[in-house]
Amino acid sequence: MSRVILGITGASGGIYATRLAMHLKKLGHEVWAIPTETARKVLDYEKQTDVFSYCDGVWDVNDFFAECASGSSSFAGMAVVPCSMGTLGKMANGIADNLLSRSADVCLKERRPLVIVPREMPYHAIHLENMLRLTHAGAIVIPACPHFYNHPESIECLVDTVVAKILSHLGLSHSLSPNWGAPNV
Ligand SMILES: Cc1cc2nc3c(=O)[nH]c(=O)nc-3n(C[C@H](O)[C@H](O)[C@H](O)COP(=O)(O)O)c2cc1C
Repeated sequence: MSRVILGITGASGGIYATRLAMHLKKLGHEVWAIPTETARKVLDYEKQTDVFSYCDGVWDVNDFFAECASGSSSFAGMAVVPCSMGTLGKMANGIADNLLSRSADVCLKERRPLVIVPREMPYHAIHLENMLRLTHAGAIVIPACPHFYNHPESIECLVDTVVAKILSHLGLSHSLSPNWGAPNV
């Protein structure tokens, strides 16, 4: 069992966070969420507030006394899903001015997996440079780009193609998305 931090921002695509939290729980892991203030509003707007029902705890984004703000905490890693360009910019520049960006900074300094799932289109040069900076610092950037080669029959199946990648890069085993060439592909 691993303990995972789930940062949620005000980008569109809360369903990615919901499906990730649901699968983490099914796999027996602990999920601790940090929604930004805008995330709470966009989750509500996109009807994804169910995400919190899969979480073991939800921290206030301004609570710097939370466990995950410290490098001595015992979290296996963090995913920022979906990640806005604003929060991406903060994380890429070491701006730890809320609990989400601080926790991401802690993961980088402690060399723990930090998976970032940006959601925007198109990207401008600063977005791309921020993703490159984060990659150089050790983060894994997984854009919210689902694949279609396993013939997904629902939005949830499509979303799970991205969730499978996130789980893999957090170092958590799963059987969500069969490898290419496996019998049911
Ligand atoms: C419905 C809605 C959808 C949005 N989608 C995106 C998005 O996909 N990507 C993005 O970077 N910002 C998006 N935004 C704008 C962010 O919410 C805004 O930049 C906010 O400051 C992000 O704050 P946060 O990073 O603290 O959550 C969206 C806003 C709304 C209201």
